[in-house]
Amino acid sequence: EQIEKGGYKHFMLKEIMDQPNAMRNCLRGRIYQPAEAPDRWEIKLGGLEKAKEGALNPQSPLERMANACRFIFAACGTSWHSGLIGKYAFEKLAGVRAEVEYASEFRYRKPLICDSDCLIAISQSGETADTLEAIKMAKEHKALTIGVVNVVGSSIARETDCGMYLHAGPEIGVASTKAFTCQVIALLLMALRLGKQRGALSEEMLNMYCAALNAVPDSIEKWMSSLTEQTQVISKNLRLATNALFSGMGVHFPVALEGALKLKEISYIHAEGFPASEIRHGGITLIRNFVPVICIAMRSDPAYEQIKQMVRDFRHKGAALLVLTDDGNTDFAGVAHFTLCCPATKLEMQPLISCIPLQLLSYHIADMRGCSIDQPRNLAKSVTVE
Ligand code: G6P
Repeated sequence: EQIEKGGYKHFMLKEIMDQPNAMRNCLRGRIYQPAEAPDRWEIKLGGLEKAKEGALNPQSPLERMANACRFIFAACGTSWHSGLIGKYAFEKLAGVRAEVEYASEFRYRKPLICDSDCLIAISQSGETADTLEAIKMAKEHKALTIGVVNVVGSSIARETDCGMYLHAGPEIGVASTKAFTCQVIALLLMALRLGKQRGALSEEMLNMYCAALNAVPDSIEKWMSSLTEQTQVISKNLRLATNALFSGMGVHFPVALEGALKLKEISYIHAEGFPASEIRHGGITLIRNFVPVICIAMRSDPAYEQIKQMVRDFRHKGAALLVLTDDGNTDFAGVAHFTLCCPATKLEMQPLISCIPLQLLSYHIADMRGCSIDQPRNLAKSVTVE
């Protein structure tokens, strides 16, 4: 087991640090600059090109996706958070309606599904029972089903009409890390591919987004080595908390949810994620002296000025304030107790970067609290019971 951990204390830490490689594997062969036109970017998603042998509808999945009137992301846990990032990306980059559903909620009601819908099932394990049932329901209504799965040959991979494997490598730690970032990559690739096909993105925009996405693994790799020490220092200060709040706006709302889930899962600290502004409608009562509030505030966020104002207000109320922002931003000096800076990229890609310090923060806090990090109590790697 020590050998498999590659010198790291836990699988989770190994998997966090492995993210640049995992992301590269997820991108490999799917995003490239053609030799004959090296200033252009192409996206090729082989698993979506052809219908499976014997499929009821022989039309190419990509064609069906291009004409779809709605995408439904169905998932559980961390995978649901990547679905929410996917929804924002599909709306913005592909100009198509998208909804995200907890697979369990979806399957136990009577959702309206039609044959021009596409259901994207997101699952690391490919075995989550509720997600599998959501797929079966969508198939009964003749919707196209697409799997975004890490485990090759898993039930969800087999049950869906087509899909994309993450190629993130085995994820042993129960709390998902590298599978999450690779799910986001897969969904961004799909959104960009569709954006091109549906005419929602100009050639120029597509090239810009592709170049940004392709550069993410390298920029993370360079920055991660400095992150360990910084997150350890902050963790030491926050490790005794009993409650923590995470806030983020737009694409950073799912990152806030994921940050809170990670902390809850492995450190057993109660944590909640909020859309930045929504915290004023309830969560704010929880803010008092020494309660950690983790705010994601990137200068590219659409309502950055409002977020900045809120951060000042949280400080005023006594929060132990950690602000996650982009490199070179000094707006929070003297306001936040702690600041963590991330390399900046296009807003749609930023969650791939901004989630990493939050993963490390949870990891170090849990480690300092002596928690069973790779196998948290009561939590299963895949929930196959209904
Ligand atoms: C469990 C795991 C989570 C995971 C969720 C969904 O709750 O502990 O880490 O996010 O299941 O699993 P899936 O394999 O479908 O992504």
